Amino acid sequence: MPLFNTKEMLKKACSQNYAVGAFNINNMEILQGIMSACNRLNSPVILQVSEGARLYAGSLYLVSLIKSAVKIFKDIPLALHLDHGRSFEMCKTCIEEGFTSVMIDGSHLPYERNVALTKAVADYAHKKDVTVEGELGRLAGTEENIDVENMETFYTNPKQVKDFIYKTNIDSVAVSVGASHGVCKFFKDQEPGLRFDILEKIHKSLENFPIVLHGSSSVDEEIIKKINLFGGKIKNTSGLTEKILKKAIAMGVCKINIDSDIRLVATASIREYMNDISPSSFDPRGYLGYARDKIEDIVAHKIEHVLGSKNKI
Ligand code: G3H
Ligand code: 13P
Ligand code: ZN
Repeated sequence: MPLFNTKEMLKKACSQNYAVGAFNINNMEILQGIMSACNRLNSPVILQVSEGARLYAGSLYLVSLIKSAVKIFKDIPLALHLDHGRSFEMCKTCIEEGFTSVMIDGSHLPYERNVALTKAVADYAHKKDVTVEGELGRLAGTEENIDVENMETFYTNPKQVKDFIYKTNIDSVAVSVGASHGVCKFFKDQEPGLRFDILEKIHKSLENFPIVLHGSSSVDEEIIKKINLFGGKIKNTSGLTEKILKKAIAMGVCKINIDSDIRLVATASIREYMNDISPSSFDPRGYLGYARDKIEDIVAHKIEHVLGSKNKI
């Protein structure tokens, strides 16, 4: 199969009430772990590349690896997506490189400027059969010195979403309903949760239009414990529980963005391998291979028990 855009993938997910996992790719082992899981469970997948990943690995390396995955896993529907594109130029460059989907993140801009930038990208991308994700509302993070009193201004305004989609002609919309990036999603003593009241209003107003949830890592306590047991120092963590994610999917979310959970499992397994399994080893194939297997396991778990995308190819 060729690389697909996300149109049919997300349409099918929306209508059948499951979500497609959008996983961030930064190197070969991460890609291989994710692809083995998708192949094992016959799941479609969105492979997403951030601007930071492009800088780290070199875009050509990543695109070439992903094109190789297309050849190796012929039956698995794959989309190559730019995560959090900041400018028209970045989206255009990625489209020229072969990305089949782009996110233009104008969420930090005033509404009309977000609309104008997002529409410009959608007009350009659609001519090349590339799908576009826009974002309305800003993701807050406990890391970002957010003023809790003013949180409401960060959430997506349900009354504005339809207008945003209509004016920009995007194919999916990322919303802000209480999730945030990274491993610390909630304040100390704050019960993990999402603003389901807002999500419900958005869902009702959109009639099956693809909704995207960023910041969807669960930040498993056992994995944090393992990292810290083997010398790590990660404190104050919290994520979106599987129950919360399943509820969000039931309320119309059909693309779930996950990066931190993969970073965490890679870190835990490499620390475990070096400290406990084989302290005398100095072959990167040992610890990177071990991390790759653990990435496969966590992605397979999410496909089967959270996303519901098993056997949806
Ligand atoms: O949304 C952010 C993703 O986790 C990508 O992070 O910009 O460090 O690659 P990054
Ligand atoms: P996490 O940090 O929760 O994995 O979110 C990743 C993300 O939203 C990428 O766009
Ligand atoms: Zn994100």
